[in-house]
Amino acid sequence: MKKDIDWSNLGFGIVDTDYRYVSMYKDGKWDDGKLVTDNTVTIHESAGVLQYAQTCFEGMKAYETVDGRIVCFRPDLNAERMIDSAKRLEMPIFPKEKFLQAVMDTVKANMNSVPPYGTGASLYIRPYMFGSSAVIGVKPAQEYMFRVFTTPVGPYFKGGVKPLTIRISDFDRAAPNGTGHIKAGLNYAMSLHAIVDAHNQGFDENMYLDAATRTKVEETGGANFIFVTKDNTVVTPKSSSILPSITRRSLLYVAEHYLNLKVEEREVYVSELESFKECGLCGTAAVISPVGRIVDHGKEINLPSGMNEMGEITKKLYDTLRGIQMGTIPAPEGWLVEIK
Ligand code: PLP
Ligand code: COI
Repeated sequence: MKKDIDWSNLGFGIVDTDYRYVSMYKDGKWDDGKLVTDNTVTIHESAGVLQYAQTCFEGMKAYETVDGRIVCFRPDLNAERMIDSAKRLEMPIFPKEKFLQAVMDTVKANMNSVPPYGTGASLYIRPYMFGSSAVIGVKPAQEYMFRVFTTPVGPYFKGGVKPLTIRISDFDRAAPNGTGHIKAGLNYAMSLHAIVDAHNQGFDENMYLDAATRTKVEETGGANFIFVTKDNTVVTPKSSSILPSITRRSLLYVAEHYLNLKVEEREVYVSELESFKECGLCGTAAVISPVGRIVDHGKEINLPSGMNEMGEITKKLYDTLRGIQMGTIPAPEGWLVEIK
């Protein structure tokens, strides 16, 4: 029996579910891992994660499809990205097969919290790993914990699919040879001031630029960008310091192979923002959230798609991706991994 939750009115928050997965790394190896009910973690006061932010995470979703299956969207790509994150942070890798099993086991154990088809909600899955043993000199921990918890969620941005107003940020998110391309907790810690400041000034999100020249569009604090040109080409910024979004990679495929649109992954300059007709933020949490206005230090760039609804191409991309995830449109081979 599903839990008694008002699924259609969920926001993006924590609703504790019954089980979480835990595996410990000690003496150079991972243990077998298990499901537990305790939602707290006890670690040494000088754990690597607490002192030097040695932590990385992933974000993915499970959905109930139109025909009652429970599926997860491309979890193999999350497993691979977490391996990349771990390597860059000098953490042990959590093997791909173990990652996929851990995610399956956690979702299965929390089946009563997977939002029913048609509610617009989904089960957000948060795998993460951190240095759990004590360090005091600046060096990697010896022991690690890998965990997975889940929480049912609705839209990331309040108001669902209403177009957002974002600002070009004066804060940088990632350095050219830094950690912007991995999902390290530290990338998010340093974006907190920028997002609180943006909210205080009435903006929904920050558009970060490349730190070296501040002329090129990178991404937001939690999503990649897609733009649509006046001749309906889907454009997305190419940069070695943005997170390789699985949603964005999927959308480019959808644009090309389902919608027969031209796609370009290339450098996108601030100076060309005025020439686009649509803009959207894409990610697991954001899905595709349309942007209606970009503010560049007082100068407003109003996207022709306006402040009331999604642009036409953005909507087609959104509907096709959602259709694939919900099982109403055939998915490319391997995109949906069935849990039940
Ligand atoms: N960019 C950042 C900084 C993110 O945190 C996320 C969220 O995971 C994304 C992009 C979107 O990535 P994905 O589509 O893999 O969720
Ligand atoms: C996601 O989309 O999964 C994210 O991680 C974005 C944000 C919630 C950090």
